[in-house]
Amino acid sequence: MVSTDSSASFYVTTPIYYVNDAPHIGHAYTTVAGDFLTRWHRQRGENVWFLTGVDEHGTKVQRAADAGGVTPQEWVDRLVSTDWLPVLGTVDAANDDFIRTTEVRHIDAVQKFWETVRENGYVYAAPYEGPYCVGCEEFKLAGDLLPGTGEFVGQQVCPVHGRPAEQLSEENWFFKLSAFAEQLITYYEANPEAIQPVSAYNEVMSFLRGGLVDISMSRSSVGWGIPLPWDEKQTVYVWFDALLNYITAVGYGQPADTDAGKLFAQVWPVDVHLVGKDILRFHAVYWPAMLMAAQLPLPKKVFAHGWLLVGGEKMSKTKLTGIPPAQIIDHFGSDAFRYYFLRAIQFGQDGSFSWEDMSARYTAELANGLGNLASRGTAMVNRYCEGKLPAAGVATAAEIALSDHLTAVLAEAEAAMDRLDFSTAIVSVKGFVDAVNMYVTEQEPWVLAKDEANTERLHTVLYTICESLRAMAVLYFPLMPKTMTDLWDQLGAAATIGNIADQRVGDIARWGQLPVGAPVTKGAGLFPRLEEVAE
Ligand code: MSP
Repeated sequence: MVSTDSSASFYVTTPIYYVNDAPHIGHAYTTVAGDFLTRWHRQRGENVWFLTGVDEHGTKVQRAADAGGVTPQEWVDRLVSTDWLPVLGTVDAANDDFIRTTEVRHIDAVQKFWETVRENGYVYAAPYEGPYCVGCEEFKLAGDLLPGTGEFVGQQVCPVHGRPAEQLSEENWFFKLSAFAEQLITYYEANPEAIQPVSAYNEVMSFLRGGLVDISMSRSSVGWGIPLPWDEKQTVYVWFDALLNYITAVGYGQPADTDAGKLFAQVWPVDVHLVGKDILRFHAVYWPAMLMAAQLPLPKKVFAHGWLLVGGEKMSKTKLTGIPPAQIIDHFGSDAFRYYFLRAIQFGQDGSFSWEDMSARYTAELANGLGNLASRGTAMVNRYCEGKLPAAGVATAAEIALSDHLTAVLAEAEAAMDRLDFSTAIVSVKGFVDAVNMYVTEQEPWVLAKDEANTERLHTVLYTICESLRAMAVLYFPLMPKTMTDLWDQLGAAATIGNIADQRVGDIARWGQLPVGAPVTKGAGLFPRLEEVAE
């Protein structure tokens, strides 16, 4: 990574995913969002750290392994290598690390963390009796459950999983969560941007104002977990093991003069935890309370995004509604997948996937919009200028309007990315693509090419199209790295300007970067027509 600003660091995490089954597009959605965000920040020249990984302990994984007839360790080893690691390549994620909660670095640090919290006086032994949803791996509170319907009439069910919670009765160690209610309220009142969107902030504040009760931090009946250092018969409650990945993966507990210790000093507190809205409470209540108990700084932001729905319900493997990412990506490609989910769904809201909607947007916005512009522009430079980018003549109002539009688009996209408003950022760039397509239609370079008297004007138009494409390639590179690299090559930018990854966001709107004479080639279409894909 080339960095121009070594002081700024930007640390982003996804949740770590349960390895009870293979990934579906709901999991890929969070990873892609984090990848777009972090690639954008890398493009700004910041020191980015993008972490993702897997959550391997707990009852849910244990039961999946039991059902599969193997040990939990065998189960997770197999699924991580056959599915969870490969899916990162499938969606083209450029994560800096991948944490597994069965790794020694994690286990040691989790034990150290809880030892510290216990020494600080926030852990005590007590019995737990109450409902527990294995799907959520969560001790449920009275208000969390709903009366069951159908086969579950008369029972209390989990609203996310639609199944009855199990009744637990066991000796546990408790975390004194209640001690942090006031501090959390004060913190969030002073830092409202720490939980987004606003609906998530309001949900957390009303939960906190209702008061907090202490919560089990260990399980005596779950063997598949990290043993408590002071009571080896018990394992750390899976969430209080999993949440710690965000610090154990970046060197928490390591000596300050080691690489790991330096990384921790550099990236903590985290800039953004991306989470699904179902796990907001863990991240915005339990996790900061744990950090306070260990006297560590709190996350700068937790952003709760919506769900991908199927038939109006959260897509899930439990309900057999999960679509594997490869099923879509084999057809449309990883860039179109990334584009579609971040453009079509407002980040923070729920959204539904449909093949029809995806095909329609792919055709209209990618193939006909951006892809067609790129192939028309590069083809005309080949046809009229032998593949060498011509020099622009005097700019008219039409060219000045486009370069002004680009300046505005960049400012809008930057502001939207800072708000994690991905779809506004994308729509803003798309507006520029549309404007340049309109410019081509209005300027009619194919008509200009018929009369030599218009050569200078023709060259101005062709230069303007290619220079606009240069800007689009960099603007869209964090979202669609593969196709934008192809476009960059076709424009002759790789050969003349350098690596697309080294281009800085702040420079995008500087007009005139493509040098005259750049070798422009008409390559394969960036977004093949779907009929061609199907053949
Ligand atoms: N293991 C916990 C997280 C621990 S983080 C310290 C967990 N795992 S999970 O695999 O069930 O879900 C993880 C995340 O996957 C969700 O928060 C969300 O980011 C994503 N999604 C899973 N299903 C989803 C949808 N149907 N739609 C959108 N995102 C979804 O919870």
